[in-house]
Parts: sequence; C-alpha cells; structure tokens
Amino acid sequence: MTAPIYRKLADMRALNAGWRRAGETIAVVPTMGALHAGHLSLVQAAKAACDRVVVWIFVNPKQFNNPDDLRTYPRTEHDDAVKLAPYGVDAIYVPDVDQVYPDGFSTTVSVSGLTDVLCGASRPGHFDGVATVVSKIFLQTGADQAFFGEKDFQQLQVVRRLVRDLDIPITVTACPTVREVSGLAMSSRNLRLSEQGLVNAAKLYPILQDIAVELAQDTRFAPLAERARLRLAEAGFGQIDYLDLRAEDDLGALDHPSRAARLFAAAHLEGVRLIDNIPVPAV
Ligand code: PAF
Repeated sequence: MTAPIYRKLADMRALNAGWRRAGETIAVVPTMGALHAGHLSLVQAAKAACDRVVVWIFVNPKQFNNPDDLRTYPRTEHDDAVKLAPYGVDAIYVPDVDQVYPDGFSTTVSVSGLTDVLCGASRPGHFDGVATVVSKIFLQTGADQAFFGEKDFQQLQVVRRLVRDLDIPITVTACPTVREVSGLAMSSRNLRLSEQGLVNAAKLYPILQDIAVELAQDTRFAPLAERARLRLAEAGFGQIDYLDLRAEDDLGALDHPSRAARLFAAAHLEGVRLIDNIPVPAV
C-alpha cells in the first residue's frame, strides 16, 4: 500500500503532534522527488533510526539558478509513491508551493564561507535556496533526525553548519553515495541523459578514483587535475565547473591531502550538470 500523501502544513503539524503525544521519534528524508536507489537508502536508514518516517518531496524553485533546469527537473510523484510503498513510510509530504513560500515570503537563510566555493561559486543563490528550504523542512516536520546523501557533500556540510549555528534540535545523518553498476553516482538528473550519455557519464567516477590513487602516492593535485580535465573532455564532457581537492571539514582548497579530503567535480554532459565526489584519505 502506498503511504498517504499530505500537501498542507496543518496536516503535517497534526501528524507530528500525534506522534509526539505517543512519545515516538520522527525522521525526515528531504528530497525533490524523482526518487532513485540513493533516496531509498536514506529512507531505509531513517526507518532503522526512528519510529516514524516522513519523506519530503518538493522541487524547490529557490535553489534553481537556471530556469531551464527548474522547468525540466523530473516530477514523478506517482512513481515516487510506488517506489516508497515497500518501505512503509508514514507520510509523503508534498507541500503545495504556498505552504512553503506564502505570499510575501521574504526571509532567506544564508550560510557564508562554505558556500563561496564549488557549487556555490558556479550556481549563485543555490545554497541560499537550499538553506532556506532545509530550515523550513526541519521546522515544518519537527523531525528529530534528517538523512542526507554524501553525493551532495557541500550541501551536507552547509546543512550541518546551519543546524549548529541556529541551534536547530535535529540530528543530521549522512549516507554514502549510491552508484549504478557502471559507477555513475545516482542522481535524478541522470534521467535526462541519453543511453550514450549514461555510458560517458560513468567515466567521471574512475577518473576521480585514478586521481585518488595518485594522490595517495604523494603526487600533487594540480598536474593530476590537468590530465583529468583532458580525459573528461575525451569522454564527451563539455564545461567543467570545477575539479577540486578540498578539505572535508571547511572545504578549503588543497594541493595535497594533508587532512581528510575529498575530490569534487561538476561537469556538463548533454546539457545536464552532473556532480560527484569521493573521499581521499589524509597522507
Ligand atoms: O538534495 C536535495 O534533493 C535538495 O537540495 C533538498 C535537500 C531536498 C532541498 O530542496
């Protein structure tokens, strides 16, 4: 049986109040829909951690800096509900736009520093949109725990910082990136790639892995990045927004993984912007 779908904040609040009265814990899995195995792994983790699980589905207009991306972002509510059915979640909350952004909405939550780099630099305004909606997700659902994928690692760090800075009483749990058999990181945007595009997109992951192997042998990042950019171009990628080695905690740029680090990439293929990242142990 598919879980009930709610569209009004008042309904969400009533559910929350009932669960609280019964002393139950609540998890939220924030998504923009077009659910794939990565989202479902978050749902599984949420089910294991809390008594009640709410899946939030809302294509948040405020985090799209490109109107075409917003227009073509997949919206698959029925399929999403079907995919969630086996997991026994308690509610699918698909708020109407006016439940999130009522007329005259004029508040922005903005996390500085962490958002100056990577996707923050190539997608102006994106993280303000994310931070604002994530604050609303936490306040509207009143959840005790929230589950985010490491695929959007910068987003995860931004959310952790905002929770800490604003004293929001919620635990943020990160789950590893889920990949296709080809190695391609699962993403709702993959739906927009052609069959050949999916083959080419899968080349990003081994390119990142090869850089990580060489970094472990003490090679500096700059020459490795140069070679990797050529390989990405050969694989059919167009614009590369970034290919960076950065510290996990503050996302500071590194030329050598002197502390726990990640390789981050964002590149365009067939007009689709793909991102990925992998951990690089400190050497
Ligand atoms: O990661 C996402 O899908 C979105 O950025 C989120 C966290 C649901 C906010 O809209």
